[in-house]
Amino acid sequence: MAVGIFDSGLGGLTVLDAVTRAMPDVPFVYYGDNINTPYGVRDPEDIYDLTTKGVQRLFDAGCNLVILACNTASAAALRRMQEGWVPRDKRVLGVFVPLIESLTERQWGDNSPPREVKVKHVALFATPATVRSRAFQRELAFRAIGVDVEAQSCGGVVDAIEEGDMILAEALVRSHVDALLRKMPDPDAAVLGCTHYPLVEDVFRDALGKDVDVYSQPNLVAASLADYLERHPEMKGEGSESLFLTTGDPLKVSNQATRFLRRKIGFVPA
Ligand code: DGL
Repeated sequence: MAVGIFDSGLGGLTVLDAVTRAMPDVPFVYYGDNINTPYGVRDPEDIYDLTTKGVQRLFDAGCNLVILACNTASAAALRRMQEGWVPRDKRVLGVFVPLIESLTERQWGDNSPPREVKVKHVALFATPATVRSRAFQRELAFRAIGVDVEAQSCGGVVDAIEEGDMILAEALVRSHVDALLRKMPDPDAAVLGCTHYPLVEDVFRDALGKDVDVYSQPNLVAASLADYLERHPEMKGEGSESLFLTTGDPLKVSNQATRFLRRKIGFVPA
């Protein structure tokens, strides 16, 4: 009964890496829906169907708790899943909330009313489906007032990363950052709202310049998950086997994952 980590593809590995470092004793089962990636160009119904299928596979693997390490699935499917699909003894958590709690300087799980915060101008980089959902702005409004958010839909970046074309990924990131800065010339903070983007985080940082605080999810999600498991140890289960599942070609996905994480990763068919 390990903890499940779900993503449309390779991006969730950035979260997996951080949670494994923070909690080396917790086994994690990873599910990458590489055959159907990217989710960011799909409609919410499609994203819901694919996400519930993947999460069900993780429940079947014995996970009581699944982290949607995918902003697109968190934005388009999570609320509907929590409202009517997740069984009573299971939990599915997304990756937006830890990020927004950090941005609004809250303790993990602090649900007090919205208040003025330090950041005023936030640049959001995310997939087209995440930007369209406005889920980030909605979650932010529960916690903060007076924050101006400018969103940039970063078409093509996930595809380039999945294909291992990092030169194209870098060029696309630079052009998306330029486009954002034309709309909001002086953001105080930038949010990397897709778990694939930490793989090109240095390019975002370089293009944004050193005056912009960059919020990246993996370490924030890891800290928040460690806190959650401390409060809910029963969700950790007793299993000891970590496992990497993919709907794509296991060999290709293993090679890319090994390159990104710089350690040997072996995927098996989901
Ligand atoms: N890693 C996913 C996210 O965080 C990528 C979505 C996609 O497949 O487009 O949004």
